[in-house]
Amino acid sequence: MKGIVLAGGSGTRLYPLTYAVSKQILPVYNKPLIYYPLSVLMLGGIRDILIISSPRHLGTFRDLLGDGGQLGLNIEYAEQSAPNGIAEAFVIGAEFIDDDPVTLILGDNIFHGPGFGRLLQAEARDVDGCVLFGYAVGDPERYGIGEVDGAGRLVSLVEKPASPRSNLAVTGLYVYGNDVVDVAKNVRPSHRGELEITDVNRVYLAQDRARMVNLGRGFAWLDTGTHDSLLQASQFVQTLEQRQGVRIACLEEISFRMGFIDAAACHELGSRLGKTDYGAYLMEIADQG
Ligand code: DAU
Repeated sequence: MKGIVLAGGSGTRLYPLTYAVSKQILPVYNKPLIYYPLSVLMLGGIRDILIISSPRHLGTFRDLLGDGGQLGLNIEYAEQSAPNGIAEAFVIGAEFIDDDPVTLILGDNIFHGPGFGRLLQAEARDVDGCVLFGYAVGDPERYGIGEVDGAGRLVSLVEKPASPRSNLAVTGLYVYGNDVVDVAKNVRPSHRGELEITDVNRVYLAQDRARMVNLGRGFAWLDTGTHDSLLQASQFVQTLEQRQGVRIACLEEISFRMGFIDAAACHELGSRLGKTDYGAYLMEIADQG
């Protein structure tokens, strides 16, 4: 299974924060936003990861994460010349994906919930077609919306409907078989000139090869699209981390616990972070084994 983090876009809704820096590099409490989606792929056991961003910002991600070797990952990078749509990720990433299935996550999506890694691993195993993850929201007109029948089967998918038929948003995490590359190459740009992910998903729906897993109300899927929601995401992470004494989306810890790196390497990553609490935490968990 390959993984893609799509971390481009223009970030206009967060101006002036994003005049000079990428949205996905902004802090969410104590780590850059992109750590959160990256942690999801890692928890899903995915180690070959492509980060796609604008030509202007790609270098920042490379400075932050390098080739991923320090985390036991293989991270590659590719440019999206302009925000031509989420589905363009599969066209840009075609060579990287090669003959494998692929999981795409949007670089500004934050997920947190019990057993999420295991859920993703189970859904990704032997995937044929596409698996979407639904989440009930109070403002469905802002998202791609899925409608599910009484038997739990996905029956419709609409992007930002004016009159939503359900409140189940399609979150920014998508699992596909290898044919998604061909499907994406054949999708035509929408009226707003983008290759829409919802159009890709509708191809699978028409073939009866699309499923939607409801993440349920015990789960957190956080928005980072506005100044307020970005601050709320930071406060959510701060609250949980301080209350529980553990860290959310701590990439080094996840690498260690997933067996991508050993205790000595985890300790070394902690010591590189100097006198921060983050560094002390990594050294402590490495010593505890
Ligand atoms: O977050 C989930 C929603 O994401 C889904 O419910 C929608 O179906 C899906 O279309 C998308 O809606 P958004 O309105 O949030 O899409 P947006 O254009 O804001 O892009 C989402 C992220 O992807 C954003 O961080 C920028 C990045 N992006 C977007 C486009 C269109 C790119 O990197 N490249 C792009 O070409």
